Amino acid sequence: MDHGRLGEAAVGTLNANWTGAATLPSRTQYPHQWSWDSAFIAIGLARVDQDRARRELRGLLRAQWDTGRLPHIVYGDAGGEAYFPGPGFWDSRGVPDAPAVRTSGIVQPPVHARAALTICARAQDRDAARRFLAEVYPKLAAQHRYLGERRDLDGGGLAAIVHPWESGTDNSPAWDPFLPDVDGTGPEFVRRDMDHVAADERPGDADYAAYIALAESYRDLGYDDLKLLDKHPFTVEDPLFNAILLDGELCLAEIARRVGGDPEPHYLAARAVHRGLMGRLWDDERGTFVARDVRTGARGTAATIAGFAPLLDPWLPAAVRDRLLDLLLSPAFMGGCPHPVPTYDLREPGFERHRYWRGPTWVNTNWLLWVGVLRAGRPDIARTICGSTLGLLERAGFREYFDPVDGSGRGAHDFSWSAALALDMLAAVDDHAAVPLPTG
Ligand code: SER
Repeated sequence: MDHGRLGEAAVGTLNANWTGAATLPSRTQYPHQWSWDSAFIAIGLARVDQDRARRELRGLLRAQWDTGRLPHIVYGDAGGEAYFPGPGFWDSRGVPDAPAVRTSGIVQPPVHARAALTICARAQDRDAARRFLAEVYPKLAAQHRYLGERRDLDGGGLAAIVHPWESGTDNSPAWDPFLPDVDGTGPEFVRRDMDHVAADERPGDADYAAYIALAESYRDLGYDDLKLLDKHPFTVEDPLFNAILLDGELCLAEIARRVGGDPEPHYLAARAVHRGLMGRLWDDERGTFVARDVRTGARGTAATIAGFAPLLDPWLPAAVRDRLLDLLLSPAFMGGCPHPVPTYDLREPGFERHRYWRGPTWVNTNWLLWVGVLRAGRPDIARTICGSTLGLLERAGFREYFDPVDGSGRGAHDFSWSAALALDMLAAVDDHAAVPLPTG
């Protein structure tokens, strides 16, 4: 398939998943609006339909809670009971600071400031773009304030996630050491996530039971973050979530500058995340960033795709950056398979070619790495990632994820962010790395 036809097919997939108000990640598997999906979708839409890109983000931001919390699912009517857990499970309407629209109660990585700035960068109509930035800036700033104030549980500079779903990389091996404390023997439930996708491509039952127990725990605490350290069994610092948070603060600083706001608090926040990443999550022995339990200080040992996300950090020491790039190019990741970048170290016994976040190659993590290696000054690696991602999509379609060894598509079909980020990569430019940085 040539690039023109791939682009047309991508637009067709996004149109088919558009409800008139939001883009469903997948009509069958994920029939509502998801938070970081919408940010990635808006980044792709910005290439072809500015108005819809703005509506995608606006729709999501309308579901923001008064505290600034941006929920990971905004429920529409379309899905009915086709997705579990549904709105009744989260009971957001029982929480005073939640909006009228029904939502989940957890968050996802904050890619949204990056999406808003990208929409602006692609705009032909500069005035409309500036008006859009002025409109969304207070909401994005509130989203980041929530993460900085309520989720930095011990003042270490990093935001904690309280559920593996908040990482976006649900069943990553990074969470394995932190899940045994979770009692997954709660009330019975019926999984709906294997109605359309094979069981060996989805999280295992024990993981899923822990997800439901953790969601119940947080819900039953009234989503009160002050109670987390005492009462909730999963409070973890994730390098991917925090690298995206850092990048988001830099994007917010640039947005503030463009709308007449003060960029300084955002630079300070980005610096705090940088210090947290370096001080807490850098594993010098393994040469990568790892996850850490806030309560105990214990760190995981798994080398996963999340460990490379701090390449987005422009202040990374050169020695750290070079070790990350060495690991990325090694047989553990890009150097060890024909269809990179796998989400877990290929040489680990727990590496699984087909199972969700325990090995497969994903388009959004490839896109983030693409931006990261550009920022790290390696356009050669960026070209390889971009070319290989587009090759996978041409051969296997807009699947949710891919077997890094044989390139076969896995998970949902017609998956929106795979289509959206293809549009962005097709227009491959290196301006993602060009967010202006503070001087001095
Ligand atoms: N990714 C989750 C799922 O698999 C929810 O956020 O349903």
